[in-house]
Amino acid sequence: MPGPKRDDAPTAPAPSAPDIRYMFEPRGVAVIGASDNPKKIGHSIVSNIIEGGYKGGLYPVNPKGGELLGRKMLASVEDAPGPVDMAVITVPADAVYGVLDGCARKGVKFLVIITSGFSETGNSREEHRIVERAREGGMRVLGPNIFGVYSRAASLNATFGPKGILPGSVAIISQSGAIGSAMMGKTAAEHIGLSAMVSIGNKSDLDESDCLEYLMRSEQTRVIMMYMEGVKDGERLLRVLREATARKPVVVIKSGRSKRGALAAASHTGSLAGADEVFEDVVAQAGAIRAENIQEALDWSKFLAEAAMPEGQSTLIVTNGGGIGVLAADACEKYGVGLLDDVQTIKAHFQSVVPPFGSLKNPVDLTGQATPDDYDKSLGAALSLENVHGVVCLYCETGVFDPDRLAAIVKARYDQFRAVKPIVFSFFGGQVLEDRVAMLRHAGVPVYTDVYEAVSCLGAAFRHQATRAYAAGATPFQPPRIDAAAIHRAIDGALADGRTFLLAHESRAVMDAVGVRMPRARVARSLSESVLAAKEIGFPVVMKVVSKDIVHKSDAGGVALDLDDEREVVDAYQAIMQSCRAYAPKAVIEGVEVMQMVRGGVETIVGARRDPSFGPTLMFGLGGIYVEVLKDVSFRSSPIDRREAFRMVSDIRSYSLLLGVRGEERKDIEGIIDALLRLDQMLKACPQVTDVELNPLRVFDEGEGVIALDARILLAAIAPAPAPGAAAVPPHPNPSSSPTTVSKEGS
Ligand code: COA
Repeated sequence: MPGPKRDDAPTAPAPSAPDIRYMFEPRGVAVIGASDNPKKIGHSIVSNIIEGGYKGGLYPVNPKGGELLGRKMLASVEDAPGPVDMAVITVPADAVYGVLDGCARKGVKFLVIITSGFSETGNSREEHRIVERAREGGMRVLGPNIFGVYSRAASLNATFGPKGILPGSVAIISQSGAIGSAMMGKTAAEHIGLSAMVSIGNKSDLDESDCLEYLMRSEQTRVIMMYMEGVKDGERLLRVLREATARKPVVVIKSGRSKRGALAAASHTGSLAGADEVFEDVVAQAGAIRAENIQEALDWSKFLAEAAMPEGQSTLIVTNGGGIGVLAADACEKYGVGLLDDVQTIKAHFQSVVPPFGSLKNPVDLTGQATPDDYDKSLGAALSLENVHGVVCLYCETGVFDPDRLAAIVKARYDQFRAVKPIVFSFFGGQVLEDRVAMLRHAGVPVYTDVYEAVSCLGAAFRHQATRAYAAGATPFQPPRIDAAAIHRAIDGALADGRTFLLAHESRAVMDAVGVRMPRARVARSLSESVLAAKEIGFPVVMKVVSKDIVHKSDAGGVALDLDDEREVVDAYQAIMQSCRAYAPKAVIEGVEVMQMVRGGVETIVGARRDPSFGPTLMFGLGGIYVEVLKDVSFRSSPIDRREAFRMVSDIRSYSLLLGVRGEERKDIEGIIDALLRLDQMLKACPQVTDVELNPLRVFDEGEGVIALDARILLAAIAPAPAPGAAAVPPHPNPSSSPTTVSKEGS
């Protein structure tokens, strides 16, 4: 079951597109290609639907007629006596198109196409043809190349996956059929109850966003887990994710963390925007929590489906071993779990159970002599304290302990407090203990053998809660105004000239209109003009050759720095001309750019571009010569507000450099935020701009601002610019019209 590899954008849904609810709660289901051969998929699906207890009408369709598992086989879907909202199609690829007319006439709303052999094998034409026909007939398509749909709301197991699904409150959307199908078995084995399981395969029409639209509103679903391989309409996904994560946790796993294939972008910013880094940041911005692997995602989903959400930031660790307590504290830092610092409270409530050689800090160390009763008292205290918002309870096996008594206490305390605050347990020891762990897990208690596993689940709850609190705290935001008309004048000039990049002086004019400061500069066309310009600007100055034909100025010897006086300007001018002529004898040299020499400040990089998957995105990172090695960058999907811009800046690993190290002043973080917000406005106002990169953006001490030493701007020759004088911020551009977004295939 190979994964999908389409690169063509889906057609827009028909205006009369049916409500997605009918896919999860169909009144009747036809299986077209039902077979009496138990080895065939068309048999297995009918058998799963019957065994799953589906109460709606079930109509096996096969022109051969006869009976299947006690149901009459219909010659055509049109013969079904009741409504058919879903048709599960299990006929070979070349027969799929042929069954669509009958489905349309019957009023089928959703086609669940199990069949493989379409775009994933290069057969995109047929897939398109099917989607087009489905749309004409008022139908939507799930798949093709999928294993089906399970929906607890309808007790419908329309898949050929394993039987025995445990009903529950975790919904899984899987792009990979094989992984999804395996996850059905795995969830049952791990006692994870499902509210839905949808395989989206080639995503020829319906995708994860459509499923999220339903699942976020489904009362039976408490957590949504998504396995993704590629993103087609990333902008829509982020919009829907934001809405979904405001209601419930969304856990995401995405394969393809490697950078291969992600570095083909045109600009420097593009090369830093390895697709996975962008994905990581923008889905987190939309509130989803990304798991490293399937096991972690399953653990988190199971925990989040059952746990109470924390109402604050402080967690208390209770342990009988110092070492494991320290490990738990490390894990808390790693997974963003805050620890209670209130030593007075800890002392007051735990003094009676902690011996003098134990610890009355956090972790609370009951020591190796702790008894089950000590655990009972400690757990009771920790879980009752108002300023404790989460509890980690650790136990290292000792000989002085009755494991059955511990298990009973843990179960009782968990049941008592499970609805009040999140609790995780980690028991570390031999077989006897592992058996108790298995028993407790079976009973739904979140017990883990590994302390990191336990804390990572708690961390997922804290992260989700933080996301919700952040989203709820948004306030109206007035973006900075930019001069869109002036930007368009510069862009139109370059496009009229047949260029998709701006020359230095055009970029400067654009940055002026955007409101980002650049060094003072003039273009000089002769030696005497250079000297005059340098005097006007003020020494020291920098000189750079101006020529459309010389892209790599330094390589051509076309740059001179630190020119302190008139004589140095004269020498540098002559040296630049000489070496550029030798480097590119046919180049037309227009002159030199004389520029104020800027000293000091921290070098950063700020970028804005149209990402192939997610549309307008912004980038910030530490600049300078190591930028590509360190890749200390953060990304956000546009639009951003001031809070998000600040998060973006403070997200990078070297943020402390901006706070001032070794007695240095704090840097002008507000200046960076302002530059990011202005570039964001520029992307909105100018659909022709595909890439902007300010590198370096020098950041001075607080209050002294920022200055872009270089601005690189790339364009796409698309829709004409809005008339000059139009609103400063025209409506958001349609990204699908930008050449950079032609390919919707995933990151
Ligand atoms: N209407 C109704 N039934 C039809 C039909 C039509 N127009 N055309 C054929 N059928 C019947 C066949 O007669 C057959 O029934 P039978 O067993 O009684 O003869 C049944 O549909 C299935 O057709 P068949 O030709 O036997 O195909 P198959 O079962 O071997 O394979 C698929 C069909 C869809 C399963 C196969 O083509 C396929 O795509 N397999 C991969 C599925 C997959 O892995 N999906 C991704 C999961 S992640």
